[in-house]
Amino acid sequence: MITWSSLSVLAGVGQTVLAAQDAFQSLCQNFPSKIHLQDVTVNFAQYIAAGTNLSIPDYPPSCGSPYQAVSADVCRVAMAVATSNSSQITLEAWFPRDYDGRFLSTGNGGIQYYDIAYTSGMGFAAVGANNGHNGTSGKPFFHHPEVVEDFAYRSLHTGVVVGKELTKLFYEQGFNKSYYLGCSTGGRQGFKEVQQFPEDFDGVLAGAPAFSFIGLLAWSANFYTITGNANSSTFLTVAQWTAVHNEILRQCDGLDGAKDGILEDPDLCQPIIETLICQPGSNHTTCLTGQQAETVRQILSPLYGENGQLLYPRMQPGTEEADASIMYAGTPFPYSTDWFRYVVYNDTTWDPATFSVKDAAAAMAQNPFNIQTWDGDLSRFRASGGKVLTYHGLADQLISSENSKRYYGHVARTMNMGPSQLDEFYRLFTISGMGHCGGGSGAYLIGNTQTNEAGTDPEDNVLTALVRWVEEGVAPETVRGTSATSPKYHRRHCRYPRRNVYVGPGPYTNENAWRCV
Ligand SMILES: *[C@@H]1O[C@H](CO)[C@@H](O)[C@H](O)[C@H]1NC(C)=O
Ligand SMILES: *[C@@H]1O[C@H](CO)[C@@H](O)[C@H](O)[C@H]1NC(C)=O
Ligand SMILES: *[C@@H]1O[C@H](CO)[C@@H](O)[C@H](O)[C@H]1NC(C)=O
Ligand SMILES: *[C@@H]1O[C@H](CO)[C@@H](O)[C@H](O)[C@H]1NC(C)=O
Ligand SMILES: *[C@@H]1O[C@H](CO)[C@@H](O)[C@H](O)[C@H]1NC(C)=O
Ligand SMILES: *[C@@H]1O[C@H](CO)[C@@H](O)[C@H](O)[C@H]1NC(C)=O
Ligand SMILES: *[C@@H]1O[C@H](CO)[C@@H](O)[C@H](O)[C@H]1NC(C)=O
Repeated sequence: MITWSSLSVLAGVGQTVLAAQDAFQSLCQNFPSKIHLQDVTVNFAQYIAAGTNLSIPDYPPSCGSPYQAVSADVCRVAMAVATSNSSQITLEAWFPRDYDGRFLSTGNGGIQYYDIAYTSGMGFAAVGANNGHNGTSGKPFFHHPEVVEDFAYRSLHTGVVVGKELTKLFYEQGFNKSYYLGCSTGGRQGFKEVQQFPEDFDGVLAGAPAFSFIGLLAWSANFYTITGNANSSTFLTVAQWTAVHNEILRQCDGLDGAKDGILEDPDLCQPIIETLICQPGSNHTTCLTGQQAETVRQILSPLYGENGQLLYPRMQPGTEEADASIMYAGTPFPYSTDWFRYVVYNDTTWDPATFSVKDAAAAMAQNPFNIQTWDGDLSRFRASGGKVLTYHGLADQLISSENSKRYYGHVARTMNMGPSQLDEFYRLFTISGMGHCGGGSGAYLIGNTQTNEAGTDPEDNVLTALVRWVEEGVAPETVRGTSATSPKYHRRHCRYPRRNVYVGPGPYTNENAWRCV
């Protein structure tokens, strides 16, 4: 029987490694000659020893570092897979020597080497693809619907289909269970699979999902039209946003019972920002004009479309300091601009300053390949026995956590199920003090990535918690996070719709002083 605990047994193979090494290495070297799959062209297979700092010279600079630390012996297989006559994905599969019989696909933009290294290091046969284009620009979409289709769902699904075939080819024993791990666009891709290819995975770990994708792009485009550029009378400086943040904390930090600088439930926070309007004696570096207070009001309000329907919820309060240099920086959001230029209008000169909800309506009417990813009926996934564990940072500065709660309600209403029924296959955890997929000021180390790992025990690690849920039927009640700052402390994050409150006794860093209510 496979147990989650075998995941943590990465040591202890010492003696056998050397003897087994040659066989594994030659298996790896000879593997390309065994691959005869339609549309698949193998570029190379490469044995990588644990401890290698792998250089990836052709990694697009916009996707991140061209180096990856590798913690386990793996066979790395790199290939191209045609998805149509005019499109292809670049796919990698990493097969660990110390294999646990589990297949896993990573997601998000670019090939996520750090997720592939993380999960293959935990014993998964792991794959990752490039979504059908290289780099973060939207230009490859221009007059190329096949590339949009790859991005919407096909790259990921193709990688799963091919990856599973290769796993069965590489390991005689094949695999028993299949998993998914991804955040952001990777979170959207995870839900796309749950909605459209419910048989692909037994367990899906989907973080901070970029679903309601068109609504998200419209909302992201809208900040620039609210703030204007840095010379506009509607624009706030970094110092003013810091003042807004401090005022929000003053009004809302205590709502969870603890004044610790961390909002446990930003939903409850309805700040009155007009308190900051300049009056005689105010500090003019930090006080606001009425127009600037209106900017803040609009930013902390949902975005509604032309005929009044909700396009996207508000930015949750609490992210002002981070967003002062991102969403509120007085510059257009590049991914939104690219989508309108290269997909919606086929107009490379489209001006993001002109964005209005009319543009959102045009984009929504297209919704190519249902990239919106908002289907509320997960009954096929449920029927196939799948489990989806999703999490969202409550200080996410790029994708509002309120949207994950909105989707939860959407699924509940569509499937006519309350939380106790949804709990059987779909659990949402809200992670206080966590930014977009990581970072932040709270106890956000939950094992969703290698950098956010603070142990492989399922209490502390969302991936092993998912494995235990799928394979042993033990569902996670809470997700225990560890702080990144020292002295380290823990906090158990709640499963929606519960929220965390401090009940004492002791310091806020005492994990037993909190209750999910
Ligand atoms: C890998 O090598 C690069 C280039 O020398 C270096 O910048 C990076 O820090 C190294 N990474 C690790 C984990 O050693
Ligand atoms: C390429 O086009 C041919 C002819 O239309 C078709 O038979 C084939 O399936 C296409 N290949 C792919 C990968 O779509
Ligand atoms: C799959 O599970 C069976 C039964 O528990 C086990 O015998 C087998 O080794 C597993 N296969 C793999 C690939 O781990
Ligand atoms: C992406 O980059 C790889 C090299 O890393 C290249 O082989 C592939 O053709 C590129 N894909 C596209 C769609 O340009
Ligand atoms: C944009 O170009 C694509 C591909 O050429 C086409 O399918 C689509 O209809 C065009 N959209 C508009 C708004 O012209
Ligand atoms: C603001 O105005 C100054 C002076 O007119 C100009 O140089 C600068 O480019 C403007 N900044 C923006 C963001 O428009
Ligand atoms: C005004 O606020 C700024 C930013 O917080 C601070 O640096 C400055 O000292 C304040 N000025 C006065 C007169 O208090």
